[in-house]
Amino acid sequence: MRIGLITRDNAGINACIRAVVRSADYYGIDIIGFNRGYKGLIEDDTEIMTTRSVAGIINIGGSILKAARCPEFKTEEGLQQAYQTYKNHRLSGLIVVGGNGSLAGAYDFSQKFGIPLVGIPSTIDNDVNGVEMALGADTAINVALDALDKLRDTAHSMERVFVVEVMGRDSGYLAERVALSAGCEDIVIPEMAFDVKAMCEKIMNGHSKGKLSWIVIVAEGKARAYDVAQAIRAETGLETREMVLGHIQRGGSPTAYDRILAARMGVGAVKAMKEGKKGVMVAVRDTTVEYLPLETVKKPKPNDAEATLELMKLLS
Ligand code: F6P
Repeated sequence: MRIGLITRDNAGINACIRAVVRSADYYGIDIIGFNRGYKGLIEDDTEIMTTRSVAGIINIGGSILKAARCPEFKTEEGLQQAYQTYKNHRLSGLIVVGGNGSLAGAYDFSQKFGIPLVGIPSTIDNDVNGVEMALGADTAINVALDALDKLRDTAHSMERVFVVEVMGRDSGYLAERVALSAGCEDIVIPEMAFDVKAMCEKIMNGHSKGKLSWIVIVAEGKARAYDVAQAIRAETGLETREMVLGHIQRGGSPTAYDRILAARMGVGAVKAMKEGKKGVMVAVRDTTVEYLPLETVKKPKPNDAEATLELMKLLS
């Protein structure tokens, strides 16, 4: 059996590559890695992966197979070229590690050409429907938390308002988790209406009671940190600074949580292939590894923002 492996960019991917390659080796399955995700599949750019070639990568961020956005994979020509590469290598299936977009593309590709395909949900946005935690999200929260703990020092000693923008695409998940874990005072997320005047009232109310520093987390899918900071400055006259964490959140050495998730997901995907499962996505629960229909990714993930907001209200 020979399986193709396609990955993306975020922490935990290398640990996942290692898990896929080593468990496949254990079961006598060959793994061919495609460089730069679907681009490598279209352009036939491959790496032979062995137990030795994945040594020493468990703690390294990014992907040793590189990653790229690939609009060509949405075109008929791109899909045909990708299928041609698939056939040329006489592959028995594909394992795709990715977020919503990559996995939805994987589903369409597998349906169009009848390809056995197993998905591994991986994105810092943690917005893959049916999946509690996508690979890389925990590290992203921790990377942002590390930055915010440092920022709080200055916010506190200089008695300032800080507005920090985090990633997450259309989801407020990352913003919520970062805000709650860093003890931030407020958030602006796509899942709720934003009323700058009400926020400024809270800030000024806190100010009158001696609360002189304030950190607001803004999800990129809802607003720009610059605009929110401008509005707060104009409304309150307080010293307000903005910061965009950006791609820093996708990098870094994966947390223990993400490394363990990578091991469970990677081995789970190889086992699914070995057992002949088709069109599924690996979903890790507390003690079990489940397989969901891959088309699950096409529906939006329900959001639990309310619960986080309530906690923040009680604690800030
Ligand atoms: O989906 C992961 C993510 O990091 C989003 O949070 C963000 O909006 C997007 O990717 C950034 O994409 P790019 O790296 O192409 O700028």
